[in-house]
Amino acid sequence: MKSFAALGAAGVLGGTGLLNGCAGRAPEWQLLPHMGTSADLEPLKSAAARINVLYGAATQRDTLQSDSAFAAHFAEECALLVPENELKWETVEPEPGDFDFGPGDWLADFAAQNQMAFRGHCLVWHRQCPRWAGSGTSGEAQQQLTQHILETVSHFAGRTHSWDVVNEAVDPHRRGGLRNTAWLNAIGPSYIELAFRAAREADPNAILVYNETGLEYDTRNGAARRAATLELLRRLKFAEAPVGALGMQAHLSASDNRLHADQLREFIRAVASLGLQVFITELDVSDRAVPPDLELRDAMVGKSYRDFLKAVLQEPAITAVLTWGLSDRYTWLSTYDPRTDGRPVRPLPLDASLRPKTALYAMLESFRGAPVR
Ligand code: G3I
Repeated sequence: MKSFAALGAAGVLGGTGLLNGCAGRAPEWQLLPHMGTSADLEPLKSAAARINVLYGAATQRDTLQSDSAFAAHFAEECALLVPENELKWETVEPEPGDFDFGPGDWLADFAAQNQMAFRGHCLVWHRQCPRWAGSGTSGEAQQQLTQHILETVSHFAGRTHSWDVVNEAVDPHRRGGLRNTAWLNAIGPSYIELAFRAAREADPNAILVYNETGLEYDTRNGAARRAATLELLRRLKFAEAPVGALGMQAHLSASDNRLHADQLREFIRAVASLGLQVFITELDVSDRAVPPDLELRDAMVGKSYRDFLKAVLQEPAITAVLTWGLSDRYTWLSTYDPRTDGRPVRPLPLDASLRPKTALYAMLESFRGAPVR
């Protein structure tokens, strides 16, 4: 299925070690070694499955319905599907008690028809949530939260691998370490435990995930977010809340070289010591701040994929890796983190023509070099 036109980029990287047009320039960084050839290509899900990791990606119903070529590549590469937006509160319950599971059902059916697992994202978040949700008295907010989760999770029960129950709830700069949200203000910190208990009541089997962003880099903010997240998970486990995994979103940047492998692994081991799995839930690599040279950009993005995945996959607690999209043709970063030079962004394993990029080879290499869990 994969066309090999992009081999040029990968081949160039593999040949000289320096990029065409960059020869002679003192490389600001070590370029990727040989990144593979067509003979090395296989579906990402296959390489991941050999080490007992589920690989998948986020996508949208409208995308799969309108782009059959992309849908075919998605089915070939992915063993897990997560709706990018269709299961968020604003879509599922725009008005109190008015549930619309149509878009989510379509995606769950697509996953089932293509032998993929299906994961829900996200039940409680401060964004893409209607204004009425979390309003009123504490009792009213608790009722809103509980009903939303019971209705939504029970609707998909029996066909869901996991749920992002609560998303991005920490703020290490606030007393108590939690983000200032309507739920925190209405109910207090216990809203998080309440959400997990409601999800478990609605589905006895799905893995229930706390999903967080900004955990990856060796920065003051990264360290503070890791500490706050770990403290939240410890509190939830002490309260015997049914949390089964941490989701590390892993929205990375090709121009940021502050990944620290040992630090990442130590954090993952600390989470695992609580009896939790760790999923990489939204992996992509922004190239907005990288020079325009296309092959250099792809090499730097690929290096970020490789450096991050080689580090985290050494930890057996990592049991799922999802990219936030599969192809540059459809990425949230085009809107939310565009390049100032107006060039299309290139953050994902397939390019906008659905051809494999250096990032895909880097992911294959990382899966192949990791221990079996
Ligand atoms: O559905 C409406 C459509 O009716 C309208 O015509 C259109 C134009 O206004 O907007 C559409 O809604 C957009 C929605 O995506 C669906 O496409 C929203 O404006 C847009 O803000 C929303 O963006 C999503 C973003 O979360 C919102 O914060 C991105 O697609 C989605 O990739 C992104 O995903 C989040 C994760 O859920 C949590 N982690 C961070 C990640 C990136 O922000």
